[in-house]
Amino acid sequence: MLLLSRGLYTADVTETVPPPPDTAPRAASTQWRGVLEEYADRLPVEAAATPVTLREGGTPLVYSCELSEATGCQVWLKFEGVNPTGSFKDRGMAVAISGAVGTGAEGVICASTGNTSAAAAAYAGKARLTCGVIVPRGKIALGKLAQALVHGATVLQVDGSFDDALQVCRDLDERYPVELVNSVNPLRIQGQKTAAFEVCDFLGRAPDVHVMPVGNAGNITAYWLGYREYAEDGITDGLPVMRGYQAAGAAPIVRGQRVADPTTIATAIRIGNPASWDSAVAAAQESDGSIRSVTDRDILAAYRMVAREGVFCEMASAASVAGLLKLSEAGELTPDQTVVCVLTGHGLKDPDWAIAGAAPPPVVEADVDAAAASLGLSGAS
Ligand code: F0G
Repeated sequence: MLLLSRGLYTADVTETVPPPPDTAPRAASTQWRGVLEEYADRLPVEAAATPVTLREGGTPLVYSCELSEATGCQVWLKFEGVNPTGSFKDRGMAVAISGAVGTGAEGVICASTGNTSAAAAAYAGKARLTCGVIVPRGKIALGKLAQALVHGATVLQVDGSFDDALQVCRDLDERYPVELVNSVNPLRIQGQKTAAFEVCDFLGRAPDVHVMPVGNAGNITAYWLGYREYAEDGITDGLPVMRGYQAAGAAPIVRGQRVADPTTIATAIRIGNPASWDSAVAAAQESDGSIRSVTDRDILAAYRMVAREGVFCEMASAASVAGLLKLSEAGELTPDQTVVCVLTGHGLKDPDWAIAGAAPPPVVEADVDAAAASLGLSGAS
């Protein structure tokens, strides 16, 4: 069977994962230890028993001067692109793959628009599990495909959408001894909720408004769970208003019906039938928030705006910033509110859009005067 083709290895990860340095208190440690250790008390014990980590999480909240000025709020960007495989998926994958090891699984499978497959491949590699991924043909960014391949996954393409690929994976999960690691796996949601903890730990409170892209809808489910857990345990005393954004051409929740052929330049959220649809709607309703859509044009403008401020996120991530700007235009933000926008993945995964929007760099002679002239410099000393 394809998933067992790396059968040289056993699933014994203790050989590769040394015991956590649990003598080091959080404040004294200079290296972030990964979500399984940092939030061990808030994650299912079965995953913590067989930890597989690439030290995911611990991502920065970057204050955005541009967006704060544009909206009159204090806007923070939760930059998930700096996770080990360049997206938020690593948080959930650390927990899901740890769980798979604990149950003695030999292989894992997932459907993906790209990032899940990159994370699954990396964490499965770390755990010495086989990994099969199914992606919509020609619809995933090259960098993400490269990641899945280089980490040793078996990649299959289907002539269909992400939703079709997920259905195949669900069927495989039912009929074969493999573990499904899409966000329908509850351990994925458990891992991803840690991002909400980090936001609150850093700010010392929950934000007033939380804005994020929505695709298969696992991540909005996870953030809402994380915020609620902290509030229920009295660590924070408020909850954010959750604002989720789909791409206009792939907005089933907004339309209230499945989209058979979703289209958007934000390929990561090109999904027509989100698996966590109901819990995404619940997060929006319970928080007095919303799930709305933004156009590809809005997303592209937002992508360029945050990039100019030094944060290179991927196109789908920019849906959150596009949504924030819409909220501001519509007068739906209160001045001085604390707002967190999640930037879910790194722009380097798909540099084509960055290149396409820029003029090709001119070629100049390797000479100071030629370089100065081309740079528009004057007043040489
Ligand atoms: N942003 C990025 C960069 C993503 O890769 C995804 C989902 C989302 C946002 C949406 O998150 O699905 O939890 O609502 N990517 C999945 C994948 C579908 O296969 O990589 P969601």
